[in-house]
Amino acid sequence: MAKFRILHASDLHFSMQPRQIAMLDDPIGLLQMRAGMYGLLAGHDPLKAAALSNLASDLRKKYDIFLITGDIATHGAREHLDVARAFITGDPTAASVAAVSGLGRPLSDEVKVAVRLLPGNHDRYTRFGLPGNREFDDCFAEFWRAGQGAQILYRGLREGQRLFVVGADFSLRAEHISSRRVLPFLDTLGQGLVDGPALRELRELTMSCRRLDAAAAIVWAIHFDPLTTSGALQLRRRRVLLRCAADLGVSAILCGHVHGYYSPSRGGHTGGAVVFRCGSTTQHFVPAKGGCNLQLIEIDVTPTGASATLRRRYHYRQGKFEHVA
Ligand SMILES: [Fe+2]
Ligand SMILES: [Fe+2]
Repeated sequence: MAKFRILHASDLHFSMQPRQIAMLDDPIGLLQMRAGMYGLLAGHDPLKAAALSNLASDLRKKYDIFLITGDIATHGAREHLDVARAFITGDPTAASVAAVSGLGRPLSDEVKVAVRLLPGNHDRYTRFGLPGNREFDDCFAEFWRAGQGAQILYRGLREGQRLFVVGADFSLRAEHISSRRVLPFLDTLGQGLVDGPALRELRELTMSCRRLDAAAAIVWAIHFDPLTTSGALQLRRRRVLLRCAADLGVSAILCGHVHGYYSPSRGGHTGGAVVFRCGSTTQHFVPAKGGCNLQLIEIDVTPTGASATLRRRYHYRQGKFEHVA
């Protein structure tokens, strides 16, 4: 049996200034605050970012990849994305931005090479929180090349067994605004949609992995939670995705978005994928349920099948992430 491990973080929510409400200057941003969505809009806490960097370094020998499932910045404008980039890559061209935001040290080089990431809805925000911003694709080009589609994020081979991690971006696209399938305003801010190129590419890439190795473990990485029942934050047509995962023998789906974690849950179908949701790892705001966490997920692969389990969970408390039972 081969073991692979994934360090899973989500919803880092970097913003140009720490703890910033990225759309505060916008009328819609103010309305969102009034609608009780303040927490989901708050930017990063530099203390949590530093703590994440430290723990990711300390644990480096214990994981194969460090997966970040979207909302890496609070807004898709370049000035916010650049802060996230400075943290993840230590890119000197963004160092001044990092200094302004008090990031502390970025991820170490040995952690950086393990990073795999994909965008979330906030990373796709244009002005007024409308979807479809493609600035992320340029800012994180060395990590994410699929645009609003799908790509293989990791190919692992150990003791003859394989793990593939395939990521997909189900953020709304600009054309959805004029579509009657998606309601205006709040629905466009927090919802995702399973359709179009992202689903097609996710299926095709997954089937290509299966053709290469019928016994491989396959994990999907997406931003939106396919199990949430929250209307404003739902992944529309999620049942299509869950059925597809069951049909293709996907072992696990790793996601974030709702800003609270839960224990691994199986989605709707016998033999379906186990869904692992991570909370908001470095966001300033701490949700009432969930807190800021990251988690270590273990994938066991044998010639006859694969299974995914939650190995460890870490919560942020007073300057560091601590292991909790
Ligand atoms: Fe988020
Ligand atoms: Fe999100």
